[in-house]
Amino acid sequence: MTFKPAQWPRKLRSQEWYGGTSRDTIYHRGWLKNQGYPHDLFDGRPIIGIMNTWSDLTPCNGHLRELAEKVKAGVWEAGGFPLEVPVFSASENTFRPTAMMYRNLAAMAVEEAMRGQPIDGAVLLVGCDKTTPSLLMGAASTDIPSIVVTGGPMLNGWFRGERVGSGTHLWKFSEAVKAGDMNQEEFLEAEQSMSRSSGTCNTMGTASTMASMAEALGMALSGNAAIPAVDSRRRVMAQITGRRIVQMVKDDLKPSDIMTKEAFENAIRTNGAIGGSTNAVVHLLALAGRVGIDLTLDDWDRCGKDVPTIVNLMPSGEYLMEEFFYAGGLPVVLKMLGEGGKLHKDALTVSGETVWDEVSGARNWDEDVIRPVEQALTDQGGIAVLRGNLAPNGAVLKPSAASPSLLKHRGRAVVFEDIDDYKVKIDDDQLDIDETCVMVLKNCGPKGYPGMSEVGNMGLPPKILKKGITDMVRISDARMSGTAYGTVVLHTAPEAAAGGPLAIVRNGDMIELDVAARRIHLDISDDELTERLASWTPIHELPESGYAKLFHDHVEGADTGADFDFLKGCRGSAVGKDSH
Ligand code: FES
Repeated sequence: MTFKPAQWPRKLRSQEWYGGTSRDTIYHRGWLKNQGYPHDLFDGRPIIGIMNTWSDLTPCNGHLRELAEKVKAGVWEAGGFPLEVPVFSASENTFRPTAMMYRNLAAMAVEEAMRGQPIDGAVLLVGCDKTTPSLLMGAASTDIPSIVVTGGPMLNGWFRGERVGSGTHLWKFSEAVKAGDMNQEEFLEAEQSMSRSSGTCNTMGTASTMASMAEALGMALSGNAAIPAVDSRRRVMAQITGRRIVQMVKDDLKPSDIMTKEAFENAIRTNGAIGGSTNAVVHLLALAGRVGIDLTLDDWDRCGKDVPTIVNLMPSGEYLMEEFFYAGGLPVVLKMLGEGGKLHKDALTVSGETVWDEVSGARNWDEDVIRPVEQALTDQGGIAVLRGNLAPNGAVLKPSAASPSLLKHRGRAVVFEDIDDYKVKIDDDQLDIDETCVMVLKNCGPKGYPGMSEVGNMGLPPKILKKGITDMVRISDARMSGTAYGTVVLHTAPEAAAGGPLAIVRNGDMIELDVAARRIHLDISDDELTERLASWTPIHELPESGYAKLFHDHVEGADTGADFDFLKGCRGSAVGKDSH
């Protein structure tokens, strides 16, 4: 794609606040001078907002204040004026009922923080799962020049000589405790070994996936995604990102110039190649909605179907982000996609160059970590989009995280009406279930949980784990942690709480899963299905006030990204009225 930079110098939006000698200008400028800024900083140079998701309660982003200083250094060097702006931060491992409930709130907050303040360009300082999509969504809706720098992954965890992957091993160890293969003391010892440094989850979980998506979309500088949080090169990346945003403002290089349909297709294929999280599906659909790109679930299946998973990282593979970085990181993957004819090479990136310009010289330093296509982890990476009478609007499954033997399966439904029902029943040895059954979890979608929690990979009953069985077919309208694995059908739409067919599944119904045929089917007659749907009533009370009500009333289905109906689209950067 050819991008024609805007003319420079020209008047920037920040001059609406700080340019001239009027009473209002002096009000805006004079007050900021109480921080000791010299007058010449208000001479029309780009003002860069460093939108920082640091929070003591978002440990994955706990080092971002330090990183912000490096961004600032870069902005100063390039002749810009950096101002750090704290924005809403939702930690994946802390926020209840689920961080996903706050992604749209964070997106709305950052959108307004960018539009309502004198910001000409933004550095999106993100890391933990929801912080990356939310800030990208907010920036997309303002279309103010923006660039992502992520906090980077934690160093490898190690426990008794083995790599310990964030999340992935938490699920493994907790199942081992349930199965009697690990005692509580060992579990606590393992806890200490999981998180050795600052940074995000070190698996190819959602945080690493979304960092990779930002880079594949062209919204982060090449090589950003994999650099460990504590590596000095992470700080270098922050500094050169600070330099780069100043030029992006001068050139007027906006999110809408970069996030085209081709860029989204590159990101979807990248997700297949890295064995990325199913959460990328909802986030990219929502992000596309903000820039007005017509992206659907079917694009996920179409683009991702024939992409082999070549990145050998947990949860699909063996290694962690640290090794991915040493092997060459995402540029190697993008180069391999390009060589295989699976990359729009001329897609523009924040560097002002095409993606191919950025990655064509990349080298693979470890072919066990980034595998040659002939030794791929799976030939059919990506996300399978399933449809049928159980999910008329679609459901997703990650084949690379599933058991091949279960990809075609017929089994008896064992139904949990919601997560509380699951928790009450799952450890009961009297539960009528065996490994051939299909576990069905309802009311965990966007409206149901609320927030669409990551409970789709519900743990198996202890009596089955004790037999040495580690996977069963599971179906829900929930999400799954990007660090998790299993034959898990997710994001079933419409969701149960909105009266989707998942709501009317009963214990003993037979369910058929056929991933190759992209089919998920409840084996009852159409008449029976219609009759059950007609008599369905919601099981939960609806929220009457506060953000929970706003969320419930406006959140859309997972099949379109679970954004709020009133937040879709780009509203631009114009503000209109002055503050006085
Ligand atoms: Fe924050 Fe995984 S919980 S990155």
